[in-house]
Parts: sequence; structure tokens; C-alpha cells
Amino acid sequence: MCGIVAYLGNRDAYPILIEGLRKLEYRGYDSAGVALMQDDHIQMYKKKGRVDELDQYCSGRDTRGTAGIAHTRWATHGEPNEENAHPHIAEDGSMALIHNGIIENYLSLKKQLIQEGFTFKSETDTEVLVHLIKSIQKKEDVALPEAVMMALSMVEGTYALAILSVDDPDRLIVAKKGSPLLIGRDGHDYFVGSDGAPIVEYTQDVVYLEDGDVGVIKRGKALKIRNINDEKHLLKRPSFQKLELSLEQLEKGGFDTYMLKEIFEQPKAVIDSMRGRINLKKDVVSLGGIIEYEQKMLNARRFIIVACGTSWHAGLVAEHLFETLVRIPVEVEYASEFRYRDPIIREDDVLIAISQSGETADTLAAVEIGKKHGATVIGICNVVGSTLARETMAGSYTHAGPEIGVASTKAFTAQVTVLTLMALSLAEKKGTISKSQYHQLINDLESIPNKISQVLEQEQHIQRIAQYVATKPNAMFLGRGVNFPVALEGALKLKEISYIHAEGYPAAEIKHGPIALVDTNMPVIVIATEQKTYDKVVSNIQEIIARKGTIISVVTEGDTAVKKMSKFCIEIPKTEELLTPLVASVPLQLLAYHVAVIRDCDVDKPRNLAKSVSVE
Ligand code: M6R
Repeated sequence: MCGIVAYLGNRDAYPILIEGLRKLEYRGYDSAGVALMQDDHIQMYKKKGRVDELDQYCSGRDTRGTAGIAHTRWATHGEPNEENAHPHIAEDGSMALIHNGIIENYLSLKKQLIQEGFTFKSETDTEVLVHLIKSIQKKEDVALPEAVMMALSMVEGTYALAILSVDDPDRLIVAKKGSPLLIGRDGHDYFVGSDGAPIVEYTQDVVYLEDGDVGVIKRGKALKIRNINDEKHLLKRPSFQKLELSLEQLEKGGFDTYMLKEIFEQPKAVIDSMRGRINLKKDVVSLGGIIEYEQKMLNARRFIIVACGTSWHAGLVAEHLFETLVRIPVEVEYASEFRYRDPIIREDDVLIAISQSGETADTLAAVEIGKKHGATVIGICNVVGSTLARETMAGSYTHAGPEIGVASTKAFTAQVTVLTLMALSLAEKKGTISKSQYHQLINDLESIPNKISQVLEQEQHIQRIAQYVATKPNAMFLGRGVNFPVALEGALKLKEISYIHAEGYPAAEIKHGPIALVDTNMPVIVIATEQKTYDKVVSNIQEIIARKGTIISVVTEGDTAVKKMSKFCIEIPKTEELLTPLVASVPLQLLAYHVAVIRDCDVDKPRNLAKSVSVE
């Protein structure tokens, strides 16, 4: 949510900053800005809209400078416009600051600063930081790095920030709490990013700042980091590590959009998420990252799964996997609700947090609650080195590769793959699964990438169905059992990228209300694959047809009954019931994608959204 890039070194800063912003645009894209240190002053340009608009505006203008900061915004406080766009600059023009996160006590600080005579140009919480730092400098007569540390000690909330200041044109100050920030170095060139995307082209030698860290980057000097929580503000030794990201992973690789590329990467994402976790003889599943806590998991009284959005849907699939295979009760919670309840958590509970980005604020807050109550806290996430990976006691990465499209696709199938491996490994050790069922499920899981590929071959057929759905204002998605989360996920994909109103329901629930919505204009997308409740789903379909609803079905290859009742039918390869979501979710992703393209929507950057929701 919002993207930060900053540079200080021997090269021209502007191209590095603007290209960096393009790579970060998936994090927020309603306005963008850049500030460059030029001789003894700061030159700043801001624009409402996309990074391209900022770049066009800057073309022909003075973009000299070898130090600068830049930001792409996802609005929280104040609408997207140039005043609210970052950087925010001090009244005397001497300092510019960019910020990700939220300053929660900004209103009281603002009141105090207005009393001191400061005036505000924007509605943002960020501008408070600029004036607060200046106010401290005036009152305390301290150098800027000290003033920044003092200001940050007064602030409640989260931040990743970068500051440029005329009092030392050869210096950048950066800080982090709750929002990620990393610094890369290539000799004496320093690159700062809110993730690795803007940095990886130049270096893989990076340090991830920790909460409370304030870094001072000086031209030609070694990086200095201090922490505001250390009373003595002693220098820390920066621990540089390899950035696990490659440039190719960030490119579209011949696809029109990241989302389509990521949908087609799913066979590989599933293989990569299984790699090294099933032995050569294919009879042992083990997840290295959780071994230390496996006994706690086996003895768990209950699993509590916390997540948001698509990751929450993966959690709902996991409920079926864990309860069926491991026979331990599971509760799946929206992290945003869980954090504000007074949940009953015991020390023998295991909390599993699922997140693609590993930066979702609500999920991280739920993790803290789990830890506070003494539960074992396990993470499943895709971004290596993310906050979730660092804040959980143990966990497993999904290895789906970077997911740039705002709509999550390959992260979902990779999460379900890892959760399946986790359930299998625990079930075998707990003895809640027979040897033959265990081996069969391992074989079935290994066949999933091929099955996904077979679904992907049906893209043109799904495109034709999309022509029909794209003309409708609403859509309903139905599924039962392990396919109910697939219905929810199908509806979420469609609504978030095509702006068609869509809802997912358990198929049997519609007669308790939603069936009132069914008429000739309502496409009802039903997942009716071979499963225990297949006959029941057939009855639900009949109820819809009786109300003149249009059925679009996802069935198992060779199905005749549901196919006959459907206006359109997508056949997927026969799959073990528990693993069906891994295959059945794919045609729904393609359907949403093509509906959105037909409706001329910006598929990778849907309106009002951002990739990583690092604010509440
Ligand atoms: O990074 P996370 O998995 O924690 O993100 C959770 C949700 O914000 C995310 O899944 C969101 O719902 C996607 N836009 C869905 O496509």
C-alpha cells in the first residue's frame, strides 16, 4: 500500500526513481511524486494519477540530481490529488518526506502544530511528520537525524519513510515501523525501496530495516542505523543479505497483463511450492520450516486460521483439509474481525496466519494477539523476508514468485498446495490417515499442475463465456463443501477486477434468501464437480432453472447431467475432492479476467485497490 523508492549515489536519480515507481505502482496508483536534491534546493514534482502522467509532466523539466525520493500513493487520509500526493515538503522548502503507513495520533499532533503556527497544505497524516520534525529542530536545536528520532518517538502508528534535506544534500534519512523498508547497496550507491522491486535491477545486497530503525545514508560513507527504542541510540551493525528476487520475475514475459501471466504461472507455482517437500520415493511429506513446532501442531487443541481476502478463502479450504485429514478442529477467522474481538485463545491452540504479501496489517495484528496469548503462531506467506515471515515462530513459504496483479491468483493455489502438504504431513504423523490414502493424496497432489495446464488450454472457450457474463450487472457463484470457498473466490475475482456485483454462497443456502435474486438476467456459476454432495448440487441447480436463472457450470470431465442443464459448461479433469479447489478456481480466474478485459477495465490495477493492504 503506497510505494517508496529513494536513491543516493553517483548516477542520475530521476530515471532510477521513475522506473522504481513503475515497478511499485501495483502497491498504490492514485497519485505520484518525486523530489530531487539539486545544488542547494529541493525540486519537487507531483501529479494525480499514474506514474506515466508524472513522467510525462516531468519530461522537459529539470530533473537533475543524484539524490532523490519518490512515492506512489494509495489514498488513506485525503482524496487523491496533488496536495495530498507525496513528497510533503517543509514550509521553508528545506526538507521533503515520503511515507507509507498511518500516523494514528496525527489529529492531536496537528492541533498542537497549528497552535505553534504551522500551516497545512494537505489533508494527510504525513504532513504532520514534516512539521513535527521541523518543530523539534527549532525547539531543541538538534541535527536532523536526532530530530527525526525524537519525532518518531512521539508518533503512534506505522511508517516507512525517506527524507531529503537541504542542510545536508548528500544525505538520505530513512525509518521504519510496521511498514517494510529495505536498503540496497552497490558500492557507494544506495537504493531504498518499500519492497525489492525497484532495487533488484541494481543490487541484491540488501538490509531490511527493523521496527524502530532509523538509517542515515551519507554519500561515500557506510550506512548508519540506530533504533529509537534503544535509549542510548547506539549504532547497529547493518546485516546485509541476498535479495531473493530476480528481474525476470518482475516482467510480464510476453503476456498483456501481470494477472494473465500469473494465472498461467500456476502449474509452476504449485510445483515450486511442493519442491523439496515430497521425498524422491514420494512417500514422505515434510515442511522444513515447521519441524521445530510440529509436535505442538500435532498436540494442538485447535487451529485458528487468520487471513484476509483470497488468503482467507485459502484458509476456508484448509479447514476441510485439516479437519478431514488431521481431525483437529479448525476455526477460520477474518483477521480484521478477530483482532477486535476478545477471542478465547489458549496455549495449546495453533494460530496459522496466511498472507501472500506478509504485510497485511490486520493479519499481522492477529498474529500479535496469538503470540500475546501464548499460542503457537505459524505463518504461510509468499514474500520472503516479509514482516509475517519475521514475526511468526515458524512457517512455510509458498514459492509462487512475485505476484504483481492486484487480484491474487497463483498465490491462492500455492497457499492451498502448502496447506495440503502441511495437513498431509501432520495427518501421517498423527495416524489419522491410512498409508494408502496418504500415498494416494501425494500422487493426486503431484498431478495437479498438469490438470491446471489442461484447464488453461480452455482459455478461448472461457473467453466466449465471458462475452455473455460481461453484459450482466450481477452474478452469483455457488459451491458446496470444499468448493464453497471456490465460489467465494470466483465472486471476489469477478467483482474486484470487472466491477460486476458478484456474491458467493453455499449452494444449499440460496433458498434461504439469495434465490430471490434469480431471474433471466442472473448468471449463476455453479461448481458442480464430482463430490459427496453432487446430487444435492444438481437439485440446487434445478431450483435455479425453475426460476429461469442461467447456469454456467464447472463440472468434472465426462459429466452429462449438469452439462445438459447449463447454458455454458467448463469441464475440469477428475480430481480428488479435497484437492478440487486447486483446479476449479482456475477457470473462474480466467472468467473474471476476460470479463474485465471485455469491459475495458484495468485488470492489474483495479480501481480503489492496492496489492498489499498494510493499513487497517
Ligand atoms: O497479501 P495478503 O494475502 O495478506 O492479502 C490479502 C488480501 O488483501 C488479498 O487477498 C485481496 O483480497 C486480493 N486483492 C484478492 O484478489
